[in-house]
Amino acid sequence: ARGGAAGPDLAGRHVVVSAGGTREPLDPVRYLGNRSSGKQGYALARTAAARGARVTLIEANTGLPDPAGVDVVHVGTAVQLREAVLKAAADADAVVMAAAVADFRPAAYAAGKIKKKDGQEPAPVALVRNPDILAEISAERARPDQVVVGFAAETDDVLANGREKLRRKGCDLLVVNEVGERKTFGAEENEAVVLAADGAETPVPYGPKEILADTVWDLVALRLAAPAD
Ligand code: CTP
Ligand code: CA
Repeated sequence: ARGGAAGPDLAGRHVVVSAGGTREPLDPVRYLGNRSSGKQGYALARTAAARGARVTLIEANTGLPDPAGVDVVHVGTAVQLREAVLKAAADADAVVMAAAVADFRPAAYAAGKIKKKDGQEPAPVALVRNPDILAEISAERARPDQVVVGFAAETDDVLANGREKLRRKGCDLLVVNEVGERKTFGAEENEAVVLAADGAETPVPYGPKEILADTVWDLVALRLAAPAD
């Protein structure tokens, strides 16, 4: 049942969506980043609001305008994103991690701009792991009935890698995209499969990111409606 036709099926629910890509600073002018546009996360926020949910959108470096009727929290780094997600998730019915979180950050931040030295090759950049936010919220649910959704972009063995990632993260749903030339990064359209921890597989044909977003909310709404066991 789509919200547009079926009415506000997420009314009374609080949902948290992360969007964009984190940037991990190296010095005041440089960072380690990724190519996430944030468009899928914004589509998730807009469609959830249209279906009646109270929406907290945690945004990292998208440059996109705040959607109407949505509470937006702006963050930069993975550590800031984690803090904002954990805070918002405390009373959330669902958490959707659409943001691309940098796996690593520079081990050290240089307070002054890093300069070249004549005739010298650059020193290697040491990196450390960032916290895995999706795994953490999946393992430590703020509420036992909270639905947790992850996203994964894969280039090879998309379904097998997706299944393994769903299990490893411990989330309820994992939206798996195949990354290609015209797909996913910065595109208006998207094609995906939604894998569920219960074994279900929902293919979503190539189309607008709103269609994928509404499919995710359909699957979330089903799980919210299911009686607790
Ligand atoms: N994610 C997260 N915290 C991280 C890394 C990823 O919460 N430090 C979330 C992303 O928001 C996404 C999901 O985990 O919803 C999958 O991200 P992905 O990068 O595909 O997973 P990784 O475990 O980092 O695997 P890979 O080594 O393939 O990058
Ligand atoms: Ca990753």
